[in-house]
Amino acid sequence: MLSPTLTDANLHFALAGMEEDLKAFRQAYPAYDSTSKLDELRNTEYARLDRLGQVYLDYTGGGLYAESQLRAHMALLSENVFGNPHSKNLTSLAMTQLVERARDYVLEFFNASPDEYMVIFTQNSTGALKLIGESYPFGQGDHYLLTFDNHNSVNGIREYARSKGAAVTYVPVVLPDLRVDEAQLIQALDTTHSGKNKLFAYPAQSNFKGVQHPLEWIPLAQDRGWDVLLDAASFVPANRLDLSRCHPDFVDISFYKIFGYPTGTGCLLVRKTAAQKLWRPWYAGGTITFSSVVAFDHYLTPGPAGFEDGTVNYLSIPAIEIGLRYIQAIGIDLIHTRVMCLTGWLIDRLLALRHSNGSPLIRLYGPPNTYLRGGTIQVNYFDPNGCMFDSYALEKLANEQRISLRAGCHCNPGAREIALGFTREDLEVCFQDKDRLTFEQFLEAISGKTTGALRASIGLATNFSDVYKYVQFAESFIDRYVVS
Ligand SMILES: Cc1ncc(COP(=O)(O)O)c(C=O)c1O
Repeated sequence: MLSPTLTDANLHFALAGMEEDLKAFRQAYPAYDSTSKLDELRNTEYARLDRLGQVYLDYTGGGLYAESQLRAHMALLSENVFGNPHSKNLTSLAMTQLVERARDYVLEFFNASPDEYMVIFTQNSTGALKLIGESYPFGQGDHYLLTFDNHNSVNGIREYARSKGAAVTYVPVVLPDLRVDEAQLIQALDTTHSGKNKLFAYPAQSNFKGVQHPLEWIPLAQDRGWDVLLDAASFVPANRLDLSRCHPDFVDISFYKIFGYPTGTGCLLVRKTAAQKLWRPWYAGGTITFSSVVAFDHYLTPGPAGFEDGTVNYLSIPAIEIGLRYIQAIGIDLIHTRVMCLTGWLIDRLLALRHSNGSPLIRLYGPPNTYLRGGTIQVNYFDPNGCMFDSYALEKLANEQRISLRAGCHCNPGAREIALGFTREDLEVCFQDKDRLTFEQFLEAISGKTTGALRASIGLATNFSDVYKYVQFAESFIDRYVVS
C-alpha cells in the first residue's frame, strides 16, 4: 500500500478548498459560530498544536490541557508549602483543605447535592470501577447485568460477581446503530432473582462508537430494584452530567479525559445510600480511624476517606479544581455544541466518500448522524473490491500526516464483536485450552481476531481545519487497493 502524501503544490490547492468547505460547513452548522471562544483558546491555550503541526483527534483517549492550567498549578505548588494530609500540622492542614475543596467542587460541577453524593478520589475510572467490583456485596442469587457495549474495566467487574456466585448477564447491542434494544433491556431488568443485590452497569457514551445510551435507564432500573453504575468516562468531556436530574448510584470519571492534566486522578461519585451497601474486603493506611494488632480489629473511617487507600495523590488533586473551573468558565454546553457540529460534518463527509466504481470507502460503526451520540467516530476503510484496510496500518499512515487517530478495539470487545460480526464460535477457539497453549499457539488461535477499527474523536480544542485534514487523509485512499 502506498503512503499518501501532500506535496506543497497540492497543499496550496487543498487549503483553497478548505475555505470553500468551511463556508459550506458554517452554513450547514450555524451553531458553530457561537463557539468562536474556542478558536481563541486554540490560539492561546493550545497553540502548541499548530506550532507543531499536530492534528489531535484522540480526545476519547485523553483530553488536552490548557497552558493556563499548568501555570495555575505550578504557581500554587511553588508559592506554598504542602505536606501529606491526614495530620494536624500546618502544612498538612493546608493540603487537607485543598483536597476537601476539590472534593466539594467536583460535587458542584456535576450539580450533585452533598447530602446525596460523595466523591471518592481514585487513580482513574478503572480505580473507581475496581472499588465497586471488590466492595459491592455480590453473593449467591445476586446479579450483575451489563451491556455488550462496555469498557473492559466495567466488564472486569464480572470476575468479582462470578467469584462470589452472582449471575452475570449481557444485554446485546443491535446493528446498524449499535444501540441497545430497550425491550430486551427491560426484559432483563424484569427477570427475578433470588438474591437482593442487583447491579446494572452501562456507559453514558460508548468509547467504541460514540452512541449515547439514555440516562432515562437509571430510574427505569432503580424502580425495579437495581443499583445503577453509570460509566461516565467518555461522556463527561463534552456533555453535561447533572446529578440533580439523574441519580445513578455510582459514577466513574477519569479527569484527564475532561481537561488533560493531571493524569492519575479520577473519582467515584457515589450516592450515600449506595455507599452504605459497599463492604471493603480489606483496610489500609488512611482508611481506618483505629486498628489494633492485639485485638485483631479495626474501625473504618466514615465517608470517602474509608475508600481511599493510603496517601491520596494530594499534590495533583488541587489541579482537578483548576481544570474543572477552566471547563466551567468555557461552558460545557458550548464545548458540546462545537463537538457536535464538527462530528456531524465529519460523518457526512466520510460517508460520502466513494471509489470510482461507486463502492463506499468508509464503513461507520454507530449512528450516522448526531442524534444521541458523541464525538467518537469509529470506521473501517474498504478498497474498491470491498477488502478492509488494516486499521493499525492506517493509524501509522496518519502519523505521517501528523494526525493522531487510534486503531484497535479500545478495550471494548463487546462493541467490536457485534460491529465486526465475530461470533461465539469464532472466539471460543481463542480460549480453548488456554492454560496449556504455548505463546505461539495462542498467536495462531487469535490470528485475525484482533482486528479493530480506526477511531477519530473530537474535543474542545478541535477546529474545522483538524477534521478537514482528516477528510483529506481519508480521500487519499479513494481507488487504492489493499495489498496482501
Ligand atoms: C468509557 C470508558 N470507561 C472506562 C475507561 C477507563 O478509563 P481509565 O483508563 O482512565 O481508567 C475508559 C478509557 O478509555 C473509557 O473510555
